[in-house]
Amino acid sequence: MGDHQSRESQSRTRRGPSDGTDPKPVAPGFLEATNRRQKVRAAGLDPNHWYPVEHDGAIAKGQVVEVVFWRESVAVFRDDEGRLHAVENRCAHRQLKLSKGMVQKDKLVCAYHGWQFNGCGELAAVPHETFGKKAPACKLETYPLRVRYGLVWLFFGDASRADATPMPEIPELEGPKAWECVPVDFVWNAHHSMIIDNVSDFTHEFLHRKYKPFTDARLTRLETVGDAVHVEYDTKVGGGKISGLFVDRARIDTNSMKLCYEYPYQWSNTDEKIKHWCFVLPIDERTTRTFFLFYFDSFVVPFTRVKIPRRMMRPFLRLSNRLLVQPLLSEDGVAVEAEQEGYEAHWDAPVAEMNPAVNAFQALTVRKWDEHLARERSRREEKERARLLRKQRLEQADADARAADAAVGGE
Ligand code: FES
Ligand SMILES: [Fe+2]
Repeated sequence: MGDHQSRESQSRTRRGPSDGTDPKPVAPGFLEATNRRQKVRAAGLDPNHWYPVEHDGAIAKGQVVEVVFWRESVAVFRDDEGRLHAVENRCAHRQLKLSKGMVQKDKLVCAYHGWQFNGCGELAAVPHETFGKKAPACKLETYPLRVRYGLVWLFFGDASRADATPMPEIPELEGPKAWECVPVDFVWNAHHSMIIDNVSDFTHEFLHRKYKPFTDARLTRLETVGDAVHVEYDTKVGGGKISGLFVDRARIDTNSMKLCYEYPYQWSNTDEKIKHWCFVLPIDERTTRTFFLFYFDSFVVPFTRVKIPRRMMRPFLRLSNRLLVQPLLSEDGVAVEAEQEGYEAHWDAPVAEMNPAVNAFQALTVRKWDEHLARERSRREEKERARLLRKQRLEQADADARAADAAVGGE
């Protein structure tokens, strides 16, 4: 993460050549942006949704990891009984990141003076001399946490809304007959909106000319319904040399694909048998971790029409991730990282977008961020009104008391 942060600060303070010319201004923030592309490239994602932050299997008992959502750092740790906890990533003493510390039993221990915090974010012990003083009553923020589909999910927004906020429902991945799935993820130096544009916009088949996950795509549906943009393509799915070997063409109609940007998530569906979800975790304006869940009803043994048995699917999926999914998605990673650099250098260039679906994805992201900012503004105003009211009441009570004193004194 440190690497990403230093790269970010470099980009924010970028200067022109030291030849006396003026530095080019950096790309505008959301409120200063003058067109939709500038707005979407500065927009965050509404924290009032569930976001995956790590693979469940990547946090061992007694381990703590740092996860970041839109520059907000959180320490996620697993205690010695296997329970996961998520607390604000700062020691209440001198603000060190707690993720630099360690887990002891069910406490997260700061690396510096060893203050111990429990999973509720409370200071539980101070292991050094306290000079006759009581330990301060410190309480760190905590975050609602769930584990589902092999991933750890956090809710970064208003915690009171977490329970009522739906997570992606993937019935195929649950229950006794669950399809196998091996999630893969990437950290790309690109804004999350570039990744959403990328995964649902099939005009970039040129990039994938080696693997051919989709070819000859023709957009047949584009519809925004509430907070979801639905897209459908007539296209040849999985026609590449490698993917073509495994796709079960006898049982799957691979001539069209449905996709959806179901804010803030994205999914695709080929004939109800090849599916994926894509979850973005926006780390900052130019860094995004992206989790992909691909799952298949049936795969065939290459060069045959024999279905791969369910129990063999897991090792098979690991292999297919290594041979196909990761190399293919890495092409997208290279492209979106280059797009990020291009945007930072040429954010004021005229917009030249041809796919109306891309405009629809961007419009949804911008609208949702606008709505979030408006909610935050009214929350702040509400708080300020309550503060002023309290102050007025206190002043009034004070004035009343003085008036009463004066009246008594005058008698
Ligand atoms: S800074 Fe964390 S214990 Fe002192
Ligand atoms: Fe792609």
